[in-house]
Amino acid sequence: MRPVHRWVWGDFDRRVRKLLAFAEVETDGGRDILRAAEVTPDPLLRRLYLEHAIDELHHGDLFRERGAALLRTRSTRTHTRFNGNPLPGGHGLDDLSIEGEPDHRLLAFLHVAEKAAAGRFTIYRELVDDDPPTRAIFEEILRDEVFHMNYTYTQLARVSPRAYRWHVWRARASRLWKRYVRVAAAVAGLLGTAMLSAMYFIVLPPFAWLAKRAERREPPGWTAISRDGNHQPTSQY
Ligand SMILES: [Fe+2]
Ligand SMILES: [Fe+2]
Repeated sequence: MRPVHRWVWGDFDRRVRKLLAFAEVETDGGRDILRAAEVTPDPLLRRLYLEHAIDELHHGDLFRERGAALLRTRSTRTHTRFNGNPLPGGHGLDDLSIEGEPDHRLLAFLHVAEKAAAGRFTIYRELVDDDPPTRAIFEEILRDEVFHMNYTYTQLARVSPRAYRWHVWRARASRLWKRYVRVAAAVAGLLGTAMLSAMYFIVLPPFAWLAKRAERREPPGWTAISRDGNHQPTSQY
């Protein structure tokens, strides 16, 4: 995926859009983890979730400020053909759901999401080499994500010592499935557009030609009807 990431980050507009999209995901994830801190019965997890949520909200601010600063340096075009959204985001915290989730499932989900984020932010950090402030943000956030990745794993092993590996595998499978559905929906959208275009240009023209030919055979104006008295009384003729 590296060439695709390079393509996404190489363009100024897409870079700004991506930073602002990350800001949304991080802030949203921060709010969800704050909710997790409220509902967990475990005091240690409550403290860790709280710290985690503060980090994510801070990441959201960093991305938003950087995106806005870039936006101020140049007026961007409002239209691009493709903004890179079907690509998975950095964090994947947008899939997080808190209510009714036990801590072990939440920790497994967070661990997998943070690990993926750490991997992606490592790539993005290299791709924005031409933009030192953005690179510095990725470096700072990457340190936090590695901490999140490690504490969630340690805590998962603490709260579920016998099944923590299984929970991680299940979280990974569920994440893969969600990614697959997202990509499949994007591909289905493209295929739908291609098929409808093909129908419009290939299937429709013969019918249009036949309709035009039939129209030429029709006499113009009123059509006289025969007066043989064989009409239905309910007929409009
Ligand atoms: Fe984050
Ligand atoms: Fe994180």
